[in-house]
Amino acid sequence: MIDFHTHILPEIDDGARSVRRSLEMYEYQKNSGVDALVATPHFYPDNMTVESFLQKRNNAYERVLEASEEKKISLIPTYLGAEAALAPGFSRIDGIEKLCIGNSNYILVEMPHDGWNSVWVQREIYSVSANRGLIPIIAHIDRYILTKSDFKTLDSFFDPNVCFQINADCYFSFSSRRRAKKFAKMNAIQFVGSDCHNMSDRAPTLAKCVQIMKKMHGEDFVNEIFENSRIVVNS
Ligand SMILES: [Fe+2]
Repeated sequence: MIDFHTHILPEIDDGARSVRRSLEMYEYQKNSGVDALVATPHFYPDNMTVESFLQKRNNAYERVLEASEEKKISLIPTYLGAEAALAPGFSRIDGIEKLCIGNSNYILVEMPHDGWNSVWVQREIYSVSANRGLIPIIAHIDRYILTKSDFKTLDSFFDPNVCFQINADCYFSFSSRRRAKKFAKMNAIQFVGSDCHNMSDRAPTLAKCVQIMKKMHGEDFVNEIFENSRIVVNS
């Protein structure tokens, strides 16, 4: 299992509040059977440059590594990325390719939460792939696609160069599971992540979700998702 979306690095965004908390989350991930994870701290183009973000992110990761060595805790393999917030002009920002996951050309993109039915949203996503040669992965589709008309909007984003990620907690309630079923049917789940921020209300719950996913969609479906994740982190 690869947790494809996490805020596990310390003191960089609204995720882990300290190195200690970060290590607790790492331990929990390992004990629940997660073999690797992608660290995706928030990148907000209005508040930071790519370079300042990378410096902070790499520094946060260094601190976790150092602390784990000190405490003789072995960390599960971590691939660095970002959850990059889409904004007008995003596709023209210098260095956005450095926000891709590991050495891949896949970039996790957070869509505007006030709706993405605007022309600029579609244009930016298209331009990230067509002009920058990157493959956008739309983060946690379950958090924006709620109504019938949202599903219609989602339809217009289907493109061979666009992927979709779902959050684990979409599998934890009856009503959101119905949406998960719909996403799976329309081929809108290529990746899954816990989107963990802490050990309380937004915990690393990938293992629990995977059990439900297997029952709902079958083992092959789940295997394919983790194969997709492996391809990205190994590229
Ligand atoms: Fe997130």
